[in-house]
Amino acid sequence: MTSGVSQQAQLAKRIAELKAERRAIILAHYYTLPEVQEVADFTGDSLALSQKAAEVDADVILFAGVRFMAETAKVLSPERTVLLPVPDAGCSLADSCDATKLAEWKREHPGVMVVSYVNTSVEVKAHTDICCTSSNALKVVQSIPADQPILFVPDRNLGSYIKKVTGRENMTLWEGCCLIHEDFCPEGLAKLKSENPGVKVLAHPECNNSILEQADVIGSTADLLRYCDCEEQRFIVVTEVGILHQMQQSHPDKEFLPAPKRGGGCNECRDMKKVTLESICSALENLAPKVEIEESVRKAAEGSILRMISLK
Ligand code: 13P
Repeated sequence: MTSGVSQQAQLAKRIAELKAERRAIILAHYYTLPEVQEVADFTGDSLALSQKAAEVDADVILFAGVRFMAETAKVLSPERTVLLPVPDAGCSLADSCDATKLAEWKREHPGVMVVSYVNTSVEVKAHTDICCTSSNALKVVQSIPADQPILFVPDRNLGSYIKKVTGRENMTLWEGCCLIHEDFCPEGLAKLKSENPGVKVLAHPECNNSILEQADVIGSTADLLRYCDCEEQRFIVVTEVGILHQMQQSHPDKEFLPAPKRGGGCNECRDMKKVTLESICSALENLAPKVEIEESVRKAAEGSILRMISLK
């Protein structure tokens, strides 16, 4: 019987062969399974992944992540085949904003500029003026004239954090959130902190204020990873647990404690774990499932992402 490890090694070998045959590149988010991150050509946060998708030299982009990420890649690279190995890998945040409701809101509030978190459907991006990710949301909002009213879509937690940092009153927040980040337990975090005095708490801005007010560092997955290069040896990490793989890879000698969710245990996004080595292999074999976007929607969404990417 083949062991799990050698089975994974065989799949990784087959994936490497298929990548060469197809002229394919694998982009993976930090929240995906460790073995998936290991076969990726590039692993990054949402911003880095969208920048990469805009510039790769490949015929096929296989996206290891969730649907909105693969859609962003297709919007930016319409001539390339974009594969999402598990088409139902979704995102609770993206689901929290419906494009029809957003269009209705815009009709009722003319003159308001829409800033959408990249965790949105392509249809929502088509109604968006400029996108942002957690690593550039502050820069994007600060690039907009202070007297311009903004609707921030869909993450109320990231939105209220940006509102607090900028002191900007004319920013309306959509009532959406990431169910994973919303589920961290503030009492559990306080207990973990008291058991580990002085240990730095790293939190993602999708967490709500009861978590963020206990954090030493607030930032995107890439920001939090970068922070781990400091001289500290132990960290409490308040974001999806997949990030621990890269943290541990970069710093095998350091200790990373995942913050507990309500009811205890680690906080894992099931959608981010849907892409496996098997599904990557099958997608590259069959060149399916493909991400397809109707051209008028793609065109309408493109500007909002390009505006974000070109912001220096
Ligand atoms: P990052 O921008 O940190 O990659 O966040 C991605 C995400 O989807 C968090 O839920």
